Amino acid sequence: MAKKTDDKMNRLVSLCKRRGFIFQSSEIYGGLNACWDYGPLGSELKRNINGFWWEAMTNRRDDIEGLDAAILMHPDVWKTSGHVDEFTDPLVDCKTCKSRFRADDLENQSKCPVCGNNTLTDPRQFNLMFKTFMGPVEDAGAVVYLRPETAQGIYVNFLNVKNSSRQKIPFGIAQIGKAFRNEITPGNFIFRTREFEQMEMQYFIHPSEDEKWFEYWCQERWNWYLELGIRKEKLRWHEHGPDELAHYAKKALDIEYEFPFGWKELEGVHNRTDFDLSRHQQATGKDQSYIDERFAEKFIPYIIETSAGCDRTLLTVLVDAYDEDPSRGDKSTVLRFAPKIAPIKAAVFPLVNKDGLPEIAEKIYHDLKKEFKVFFDDGGSIGRRYARMDEAGTPFCFTVDGQTKEDETVTIRDRDSMEQTRHKIAELAAILLDKTK
Ligand code: GAP
Repeated sequence: MAKKTDDKMNRLVSLCKRRGFIFQSSEIYGGLNACWDYGPLGSELKRNINGFWWEAMTNRRDDIEGLDAAILMHPDVWKTSGHVDEFTDPLVDCKTCKSRFRADDLENQSKCPVCGNNTLTDPRQFNLMFKTFMGPVEDAGAVVYLRPETAQGIYVNFLNVKNSSRQKIPFGIAQIGKAFRNEITPGNFIFRTREFEQMEMQYFIHPSEDEKWFEYWCQERWNWYLELGIRKEKLRWHEHGPDELAHYAKKALDIEYEFPFGWKELEGVHNRTDFDLSRHQQATGKDQSYIDERFAEKFIPYIIETSAGCDRTLLTVLVDAYDEDPSRGDKSTVLRFAPKIAPIKAAVFPLVNKDGLPEIAEKIYHDLKKEFKVFFDDGGSIGRRYARMDEAGTPFCFTVDGQTKEDETVTIRDRDSMEQTRHKIAELAAILLDKTK
């Protein structure tokens, strides 16, 4: 069973490289562990996923504002947030084979699972934040951190956003951005990496309403994955027990996905209470409390956080969409992305490279290109061209053939059903818009 799982993951990783979704970082130098680059199709897919999150969390709503805060922040932010003292994992080394483990991943705390010797060190706390220096002098006073979560950029801007947008509680601030963690055991392709992107939203509420809004955001986020096209049976909830709760959380629920390597966290919904704003108020002396005519007293808002990883969502989308369909012959791999996030929305082909068909196909391609990410391909047999688009997850292929010259129609081939239907060239943009929204 494990072998089958590994094979499927290996085939997906190899497809990602072959088709230009994901490459190892600095590959020609031998690669950099746990860092990955998104290629032409991968960067488009990621933009579409991020765009769909942004649309759902900001554009469709009146109560959430966007933010794009700097990665480097005042180092005191991370003392105040608790990350300097508490953002640690217990690390264990094997003195014989030099392997490293997270202590909480080890079944037997005394025996090395790699070499089998009883030469494991005692666990020591290892801080996951990356440090660097600001300015020319590399001393302790110049230390700054690469942010390990985007959330703090939102908290320190709570007053700025509230005052400039004139939002009233309850309201949220959403942000997409890079985060960095010096993970002890990164792995499973892009599942756990050291540089990754988060899509986080912090919702500021009255403390008495925390349970109501927690429930609400759990439901909203669950529905978002369904809208993204993820299969419902592959998703489940996991509630954090007291041992798992992060230092800031009163309650936390994860949405998990069943990856080939097991059920794993995809996104967390957290009740962070007034922990963060209170701490920032205490550290800076800047009043973070809220008052308006609807409330009898001033209060520090509670925060319900929704925190998702872009890369992890992208891996989920890839795993969920990956299918091997023997009815398609040798080239049987299909990525069944939801059309709205597919990197290429449609491909345009001339059936043959003569009789004026390439010219008609090129014109269709250039017209559609103004509105959609489309692809032109006139190389090889039509079967091979369909197969290449199946592997790229392109939901529709438009083929110009002999009949096109007679009645200005083309065939539309549907990726999933492989059915072909004829449509007027003049209707293609409207059809594509409708099918990819
Ligand atoms: N602000 C809260 C926070 O950062 P988290 O549970 O540590 O919470 C939230 O992270 C999400 O960020 C995770 O559910 C996951 O999707 C993503 N994430 C965290 N660490 C990651 C890593 N090393 N590689 C890829 N994604 C990661």
